[in-house]
This record gives sequence, C-alpha cells and structure tokens, in this order.
Amino acid sequence: MRMTRVFSGVQPSGNLTLGNYVGALRQFVELQHEHDCFFCVVDLHALTLPQDPEQLRAKTAEVAALLLASGLDPAKMTLFVQSHVPAHAELSWLLNGIAYVGELSRMTQYKDKAKDRKTVTAGLLNYPILMAADILLYQADLVPIGADQKQHLELSRDVAIRFNNRFGDTFVVPEPYIPKVGARVRALTDPAKKMSKSSEVPDSYIALLDPPDVVRSKLARAVTDSGREVRYDPKEKPGVSNLLTIYSLCRGKTVKAAEGDFPGVGYAAFKEAVAEAVNDTLRPIQARYEELMSTGELRDILAGGGRRAAEVSAATLADVKRKMGLLAL
Ligand code: TYM
Repeated sequence: MRMTRVFSGVQPSGNLTLGNYVGALRQFVELQHEHDCFFCVVDLHALTLPQDPEQLRAKTAEVAALLLASGLDPAKMTLFVQSHVPAHAELSWLLNGIAYVGELSRMTQYKDKAKDRKTVTAGLLNYPILMAADILLYQADLVPIGADQKQHLELSRDVAIRFNNRFGDTFVVPEPYIPKVGARVRALTDPAKKMSKSSEVPDSYIALLDPPDVVRSKLARAVTDSGREVRYDPKEKPGVSNLLTIYSLCRGKTVKAAEGDFPGVGYAAFKEAVAEAVNDTLRPIQARYEELMSTGELRDILAGGGRRAAEVSAATLADVKRKMGLLAL
C-alpha cells in the first residue's frame, strides 16, 4: 500500500502570519513525519490579484524559507514552487472544462475579493480550479488547511468526483485536515475578521518575521472586550478568546489550562503574557530563517523539490490527457 499523500499550498502574497502558522504550517510539520508530503508556494495563485513583480519574486523565496524555518525538513517532505512545475497550469486548464461558472461564483472568498473591485480578473474566478489541479495532480488523500479554505476543498472534491464519473476512476477524492483549535485565527484589530496576510492594516496581524517589540506593541493594541475577566467565550468575548487561543497554541496548552494561567489578571498583563508566548514561538523560526537566507541552501532545496514534484505529477497529467481525448504522439 502506498503512504498517505498530503498536499498543501501557501500563497506568497503578503507577510506570512501567525494565523498561517497555527492554521496550517504547524500541521505540515507534524504530518511530514508519517506521510508522503508535498508543500507548494503557490505563486500562480498570487497572480490572480495585482502583484509587484520584484516583490512577488522576493516573497516566493521568503515564504519557502519560512516554511523550512517552521520545521519542514527537506529529507522528509517535498517543497517546491508552483510555477516550476508546469503540470499545475496545464491540469488547471483541462479542469476548466469540468468546473462550472456557477459553482465558482458562489465561492465566498471570490465574492469577498471581487466585491470592492472595479474590474475582476478571470483568474480570481478560476482560482479554485488551479487549487483543485494542485491537489489532484498528486492524488492527495489529505489536505491540511485552515477553515477559510474548506469551501475551496469541497469544490476540489466535486471536480474530482465529476471527472471520475465522466472519464472513469482517475483522481483520489481528497479530505480536508483542519485543526480543532486555531483553524481561524482572528484579526487583532477586529475579531469578526480572520487574521489575513494580505490585510492593509499591519496591526491586524502578527507576521512571522515581526521583531519582539513589534509583537508586543501589536498585542498591546489588540481589541479586547468589555468586562475584565480573561475567559474563553468566543461569542461574548471574541477578542480575548482569540488571544487565549493564540497563547494556548504557542505554549502547547489546552485552552482550559491557558485560562487557568490568568485568574484575576487584568487585560494589560494578559496581553504581555501572550506577547511573550508568541515571541518564544517566533524566536527559533526567525533565527533559522536568517540562516537559510544567508546561504544557497534554499535554491537547492527548491530545485530538488521541483524535480520530484514534476516526476510524481507527470503520470496523473498524462492519464487525464489520454482520458479527455488529447492526441499523443
Ligand atoms: P493562504 O496562502 O491564504 O493561507 C495558507 C494557509 O493558512 C491558512 N490560514 C489560516 N489558518 C488559521 N487562521 C487564519 N487566520 C488563517 N489564514 C490563513 C489557510 O487556510 C491555508 O491553509 N488557496 C490557498 C492556497 C492553496 C492551497 C492549494 C491550499 C493553493 N493551492 C492546495 C491547499 C491545497 C490560500 O490562499 O491559502
């Protein structure tokens, strides 16, 4: 029997945040020990919104380095850049003949991103098709994601099932792998929203590369709730509950145990304790990141990862082309 296959992607479209770490990266690091994992910096996805070309190139390397600095080990998993493996764009086009405009235009992320724009690119609408291609190319069984990507994963499943029904068994139908705690870290400035790396309000997120004093000041300004108690109650106290979640994950405690650390403690002292916990988590990641960026290691890792990804995905792509009726020579 083959090992369980895992695939996930991260966009290089901003500063990787604590939300990305808690919701996704931490799971990647755990899963690499037991499964055949592919992790991808999805630069083609980033092109669905306007990007500065130099910035995109730099962010692609930065995100790859941060994934490694978070604990991904090139000896245990495959890390690569999406545009280095042309099969992603190719399968995405082929699946354009399977996905429906109706289902794409119902995606909440599409509606959110499209709503304040004068013009909307075709790429923004087709974005989940490329995501389906990413996953299905590797016959992934499991896809570790935060809660915000669940709907896109459902669409990938629908596309896989539709294809299999029309052309015969081809794709594994992937399952989402969503953490029980930390699947939706909230914005510090507005707990009604998710913490997002593409936010224009830097105070709303903690970036993995934020220095300790920046982390402290962002947390000191974080929105809390009325009352004084540090208590986990997402309905009545969404701000405090978000900070408690962050604290508990950084300290490796349950939320209940985290609550127990703050009897009669005021919000200001609580926020300082959260900042210390976050800084203790970020310190080793930042140190390893600096090391990686000062050597040529990253280039070699991505080149090797790209080669393995191309090899593994080639069989699926050839099978799909044959089944859809493309002429081979
Ligand atoms: P992206 O780049 O926005 O986010 C990367 C991962 O981080 C998770 N995440 C969060 N988790 C908890 N709390 C938050 N506030 C938070 N913000 C982000 C996301 O759910 C994601 O798992 N479309 C994807 C990238 C992608 C992909 C794929 C993912 C492309 N192809 C194939 C899985 C499989 C995205 O934009 O994630």
